[in-house]
Amino acid sequence: MINPVARAALALRERRRAPDLGQIMSALPVPVVLLDADNRFRFANPAAEQFLGISVAGLSQLRLRDLVPEDNPLFLLVDQVRKGDATVSDHDLSVDSPRLNKQGMTVQGSPLPEEPGAVLLVLQDASAARALDRQLAFRGAARSVTGMAAILAHEVKNPLSGIRGAAQLLETSVDAQDRELAVLIRDEADRIRALVDRMEIFGEKPIARTAVNIHRVLEHVRKLAQSGFAPHIRFHENYDPSLPSVWGNRDQLVQVILNLVKNAAEAATQEEQPNPEITLVTGFQHGMRLAVPGTTTRLDVPLLVVVRDNGPGIPDDIRPHLFEPFVSTKTTGSGLGLALVAKIIGDHVGLIEVDSRPGRTDFRLHLPVVADEEAEPGI
Ligand SMILES: Nc1ncnc2c1ncn2[C@@H]1O[C@H](COP(=O)(O)OP(=O)(O)OP(=O)(O)O)[C@@H](O)[C@H]1O
Ligand SMILES: [Mg+2]
Repeated sequence: MINPVARAALALRERRRAPDLGQIMSALPVPVVLLDADNRFRFANPAAEQFLGISVAGLSQLRLRDLVPEDNPLFLLVDQVRKGDATVSDHDLSVDSPRLNKQGMTVQGSPLPEEPGAVLLVLQDASAARALDRQLAFRGAARSVTGMAAILAHEVKNPLSGIRGAAQLLETSVDAQDRELAVLIRDEADRIRALVDRMEIFGEKPIARTAVNIHRVLEHVRKLAQSGFAPHIRFHENYDPSLPSVWGNRDQLVQVILNLVKNAAEAATQEEQPNPEITLVTGFQHGMRLAVPGTTTRLDVPLLVVVRDNGPGIPDDIRPHLFEPFVSTKTTGSGLGLALVAKIIGDHVGLIEVDSRPGRTDFRLHLPVVADEEAEPGI
């Protein structure tokens, strides 16, 4: 153990050879960019390169207006920083331009005392934080339906099979007109049975996990879709073949992707869209960590899966309730698909985010990977 005087001496020595500002900024995990008085990018740290999807070399050729439309409130913020010579922050800022698409960012701008006109911008993607909020809210909602689902499944199944059996018997012994009614009873009983089966997953069972190759899951679902409910849709794949395996339950992950692809197919085939398309993307993203519920452990969730469609986008009024059960805008929908997806992803200690506007809806999954896996091909 080091004594306090020695520690102070060490600290003093450290201070004398303190790293320069550039080094400190480069090490920051938060995206930071510096604009000069002409709104040219003078500096960007690696986190900002990743956030903006542009290299420092690329950025140094650009002005702010090359990335952000000039009527965007970000320009107002930069002006306010220069005029007021003080820090200004803005929440829920969105940029929608050919080079940059960010929704709900938080941006903080500060002047640099020794560089007149320069503005330091600290950027933060709020969508992850908001998604987390929604997911946590969902966990509460899911718990309240958990008990109900278990009781329903248990209590409804037995009498239901009795009703179904009786209807089937009737079918053989009544005249043609009544037979139609008997068939109706059987079909409706089957529908309730299917609904109850889907609700059973809301029970609190621990999941059995193995190493799952996410590309095999995606390809399996794509084939199911193309030979079943989405034969008319064009699929695009943009996979990162070097990805490690997901630490998860293969069948449940198939259910997740299937529900997302089914929703995407239903959205993309609405009449206004003549060329329905679904894009499946995988990638690796550093820096996303989640708390494991009920423990102090934090888990990295670096594996990213995106299911994208070019449909009309998610209606505004249902966005806040998207992951709650029984929320649906479809005449034949049960509204359980996304509730199920959120429940499974929550059980995997993963995260789901949504970015949606007309013509482009992204459902993004962040999942944990198998630690220390022998390198194996990802596709
Ligand atoms: N990709 C998407 N584009 C536009 N809206 C979507 C998309 N995915 C989901 N939604 C909206 O979210 C609602 C809820 O979706 P969810 O999958 O939970 O239920 P559903 O699809 O209506 O019914 P179910 O999945 O049970 O058959 C949908 O009714 C739809 O309005
Ligand atoms: Mg659905």
